[in-house]
Amino acid sequence: MTDQDPIVRLQDINIKYGAYHAVRNVTLEVARGEVVAIVGPSGAGKSTLLRTINMLEQPVSGTLHVGQFTFSLDHELTSKQLLALRRSTGMVFQSFNLFPHMTVEKNISLPQMRVLGRSKSEADSRTAKLLERVHLSDKAQSYPARLSGGQQQRIAIARALALDPQVMLFDEPTSALDPELGLEVLSVMRELAAEGMTMIVVTHEIAFAAEVADRVVVMADGAIIEQGEPEQVIRNPSSPRTQKFFRAILDRH
Ligand SMILES: Nc1ncnc2c1ncn2[C@@H]1O[C@H](COP(=O)(O)OP(=O)(O)OP(=O)(O)O)[C@@H](O)[C@H]1O
Ligand SMILES: [Mg+2]
Repeated sequence: MTDQDPIVRLQDINIKYGAYHAVRNVTLEVARGEVVAIVGPSGAGKSTLLRTINMLEQPVSGTLHVGQFTFSLDHELTSKQLLALRRSTGMVFQSFNLFPHMTVEKNISLPQMRVLGRSKSEADSRTAKLLERVHLSDKAQSYPARLSGGQQQRIAIARALALDPQVMLFDEPTSALDPELGLEVLSVMRELAAEGMTMIVVTHEIAFAAEVADRVVVMADGAIIEQGEPEQVIRNPSSPRTQKFFRAILDRH
């Protein structure tokens, strides 16, 4: 594997829930340092696809490469590899999922100690740097319940970064937030992108996708229906389905 190889490669991925075909023949490559926004109507399969990248969903067919890991039905990962794969992908959800009974510092340090075997002082020193990066150094000793939603989500981002992931996966990280709190989170994500982090972001924030993403991928009915540079896909989509989707979003604003 070289630095030029895509860091994430999904080939002909199919996912079914019983008889329901949620993701259909999806092929997607993401380069190192690339920011890909995935958009599309509710039920399109965006979350399912994102969850496949860290194997929270297992495809019924297709091949998945993430960094040095390869998964296919005839090449299953051992549980050790599966853990390593999950560790190499930092996931940030719509709901922040912080541990309510732990301080911010402990929320970020504990996984580093448990998963990476860092000592408490190593972990705490990394945590301090990450808190600086998400502009919340003053909150190290606070409990999550005392923070705003936007602050909690920035802590969730710091926690995901603490395990040194190769790629960050975001599933509508701002949709549970008031718009101005969402902006704080988007601004941290913009900084991460500028620092060269590989990011795959499922989002309804079209302005963010237009500004930050290198590529916009549009999904509908489990398939990728269109993709390309944001300007092209958002302003001048070629598929009527994509046109309708963006028109509906822009009309809401
Ligand atoms: N665990 C599950 N069991 C059964 N069906 C599921 C499951 N998870 C998702 N689905 C179905 O698969 C389809 C795709 O769901 P998914 O959550 O990936 O959509 P989405 O594009 O993320 O939508 P949204 O924008 O609403 O989050 C939907 O029809 C959903 O009902
Ligand atoms: Mg979803």
